[in-house]
Amino acid sequence: MKGIVFTEFVSMVESQFGEDMFDDILDAVQPKSEGAYTAVGTYDHQELVDMVVELSKLCDTPVPALVHAFGLHMGKVFSEKFTSFFIEAGSTIKFLEAIDNHIHVEVRKLYPDAELPVFSFEHVESPTEHFALHYQSTRGFADLALGLIESTSAYFGETFNIDREDWVEGDIHHAIFRLTSA
Ligand code: HEM
Repeated sequence: MKGIVFTEFVSMVESQFGEDMFDDILDAVQPKSEGAYTAVGTYDHQELVDMVVELSKLCDTPVPALVHAFGLHMGKVFSEKFTSFFIEAGSTIKFLEAIDNHIHVEVRKLYPDAELPVFSFEHVESPTEHFALHYQSTRGFADLALGLIESTSAYFGETFNIDREDWVEGDIHHAIFRLTSA
């Protein structure tokens, strides 16, 4: 997993839980990288999972809620670091449509070893008109995706009701997010 994800995790932990919290996490988890993350590095994604599990224990907050909060944080960071994708898209739905065939494609050019999920989408007409975004990944970060979707709609000042359905097939985690205008 790319270093930017780790450096932003450290920044979220320090700003939301205080500087000592990250040291406490490192003491408990003792990751192989020793926690010296840089934005250009690549690290074992299990290190992030272990740190989130430890943070969950230390701050008594369930893991899914923390991963979701991290998605909100990453969405804000992406809108500041990769603003052109947001300007180009112009709306939440157009932005979400562009993840798989444009945004993550560009991410892969920047980071050829990126471990990216697969997204597909559909505009469903009936029984209720909505936009459906289908997430698939071996990593099971659908809570992160939800935070990213919500921060995207916050960026565009749009509001949606989001229904979510999760399942696992073999080692692939699936989630469908159904967005209806609120
Ligand atoms: C400008 C916008 C975006 C950028 C620059 C971006 C970039 C990235 C990067 C760098 C990674 C890490 C890859 C790795 O560590 O190997 C990643 C992973 C991921 N991205 Fe994006 N992304 C963007 C938008 C989105 C949006 C809107 C969603 C969800 C709706 C999304 C969902 C995910 C998820 C869930 C992962 C974690 C890996 C997985 O689940 O397999 N991304 N993205």
